Amino acid sequence: MTLLAIETSCDDTAAAVFSDGRVLSSLVSSQEEHIAYGGVVPEIAGRAHERFILPVVEASLSRAGKTLDDIEAVAVTYGPGLAGSLHVGISFAKALAFGRGVPLVGVNHLQGHIYSVFARAPEDDRPIPDFPFLCLTVSGGHTQLVLVEEGFKHTLLGGTRDDAAGEAFDKVGKMLGLPFPGGPEIDRLAREGDPNYLKLPTPRLSEEKTGEAFAFSFSGLKTAVRYYLDDLDGTAREDALGARLPDLCASFQSTVVVALLGAVAEAVQRTGVRRVAIVGGVSANSLLRSKAAESAKVNGFELFIPPPGYSVDNAAMIAVTGAFRLEAGESSPLTLSAEPALRL
Ligand code: KG4
Ligand code: ZN
Repeated sequence: MTLLAIETSCDDTAAAVFSDGRVLSSLVSSQEEHIAYGGVVPEIAGRAHERFILPVVEASLSRAGKTLDDIEAVAVTYGPGLAGSLHVGISFAKALAFGRGVPLVGVNHLQGHIYSVFARAPEDDRPIPDFPFLCLTVSGGHTQLVLVEEGFKHTLLGGTRDDAAGEAFDKVGKMLGLPFPGGPEIDRLAREGDPNYLKLPTPRLSEEKTGEAFAFSFSGLKTAVRYYLDDLDGTAREDALGARLPDLCASFQSTVVVALLGAVAEAVQRTGVRRVAIVGGVSANSLLRSKAAESAKVNGFELFIPPPGYSVDNAAMIAVTGAFRLEAGESSPLTLSAEPALRL
């Protein structure tokens, strides 16, 4: 089966072509309009999707060596995300499915991130996990730890109560005067820094207090960095944002990574599931990747991290998930509409 997938849940316009279990093309057009604002502006995002969607779909078909005649189903993200952004992708996908008379399949973006671990181009022979596996989704919008079982069964083991991990990277980056998004910048600067320079509170919330095994608050961590900077006077502040910037970045990054991987190791122990996927934009983080590989050896689990192109928001992951749903005999009506607050 050959599937066209569309993803417009936030600020990236993405399309992919998927055929016989392989990703033939996956293109993302990132909207640079938001950089000047230091964050995504919903109104601008929706309008930019309107301009980009057709060229991105056309380029994706041509890169895959396919035409619309080859497309046997259309998959599209229907939530969670920004309403105005989702509407553009959904309307386009519905019109296409209606016009071509092929099935439409709505995909939950959070499930998309999880199944990104199965996205492989034709020559890609990296291993993919068997079921069940544990999945840590860490992106700009979400932080969740999920038990994934065969047959589309997802059990949420825990997650953030406020900001997502990537959001914390971006907000702390902004405080430190770094360009948006802060995640990759902090990662780069932290390589030269001392992670023990500043002791920050862990973003992991205690099970005793919350009644949840794996609860996080990244907003508290972000606020701790703000208080630290606010308490510094003129030259000390200049020093912190100058010579000590790599140390600050390393301290913040290490606090996030230690907390996330601590939860993963504990989840492996508690569930007995020895396969772990880490997905979402933050899985590109170099410390997270190296420490996760160490933890896999020490704690005895297999680790699966998709390449960066499938970790950040993309349509290949929507195609893979859509194909799983179609295989299970599921599809969506042409009345499909955006669900901005959709949960896992
Ligand atoms: O998955 P994604 O593209 O979008 C969402 O679904 O939100 O993730 C984007 C997030 C941003 O917050 C960005 O700062 C973060 O991923 N990110 C990183 C790195 N690369 C991207 N965070 C830390 N280290 C990185 N190397
Ligand atoms: Zn995402």
